[in-house]
Amino acid sequence: MKKLLSFLCIFTMVFSLTACGGQSGAGNGSEEEPPASQTVHSQEPEQTESHGQPFEENSKGQAEQENKETADTEAVDTPKEAEGSHVLVVYFSATGTTKALAEYAADAMGADIYEIVPDEPYTEADLDYGDSKSRSSIEQNDETARPAISGSVENMEQYDTVFLAYPIWWGEAPRIVYTFMESYDFSGKTIAPFCTSGGSGIGSSAKNLHSLAASDTTWLDGERFGSGSSREDMVSWINGLGLDVTAE
Ligand SMILES: Cc1cc2nc3c(=O)[nH]c(=O)nc-3n(C[C@H](O)[C@H](O)[C@H](O)COP(=O)(O)O)c2cc1C
Repeated sequence: MKKLLSFLCIFTMVFSLTACGGQSGAGNGSEEEPPASQTVHSQEPEQTESHGQPFEENSKGQAEQENKETADTEAVDTPKEAEGSHVLVVYFSATGTTKALAEYAADAMGADIYEIVPDEPYTEADLDYGDSKSRSSIEQNDETARPAISGSVENMEQYDTVFLAYPIWWGEAPRIVYTFMESYDFSGKTIAPFCTSGGSGIGSSAKNLHSLAASDTTWLDGERFGSGSSREDMVSWINGLGLDVTAE
């Protein structure tokens, strides 16, 4: 009986030690929860590694984030960018007056700008309207004259509104502007002409250019500006046209 009791006692001790050992393991485990979080922590370096390794992943993540940001920005900026990208200001200027006004217009609308550059530049003598034999006089007297243009507008298709600016020569647009009109298809586009002059109005110049455009071109009333016209004058004219473009 004494032996049996001793055996039972030993058995009970061994059993409870074993059980304690198990619990102790679990207890360690739970104590090692921080280590467990170290494991998460230790995954961070892995992630860092994977940041490093897959710059792809990182780059991709960044790219996605950037794309998202770009998309967000685009979503916000789209109307403005669209306005800027679908309007083109085209000008011909022999002595700089029209150029300045065209630049006001393009800048005010955030529009693209294109200069009609003659293949053969006009010299001072060419522009001498007091000389009936000067190049400008000869060209303006010849309805069929089409002075060549150097260069061209890239992707005219992308523009739906074209501001067309030129100086008045003998009451009309210089013939090189006719060359420009005949070089592109303005179907479905809106054209807003404006001119500069020493005093003459836009007169029949715009009407004659209009006759060179496709029948489905929307032709707006033109405006004449003088050398003293300001940016504000230009902005106010543009904003009065009723276009979905705002000049500032
Ligand atoms: C050949 C030639 C003819 C011109 N004919 C006229 C005209 O008929 N009426 C007018 O008011 N100004 C006339 N001008 C003056 C210009 O229209 C004016 O100076 C214009 O603003 C010049 O623009 P630009 O500097 O962009 O070339 C003429 C100028 C030249 C060179």
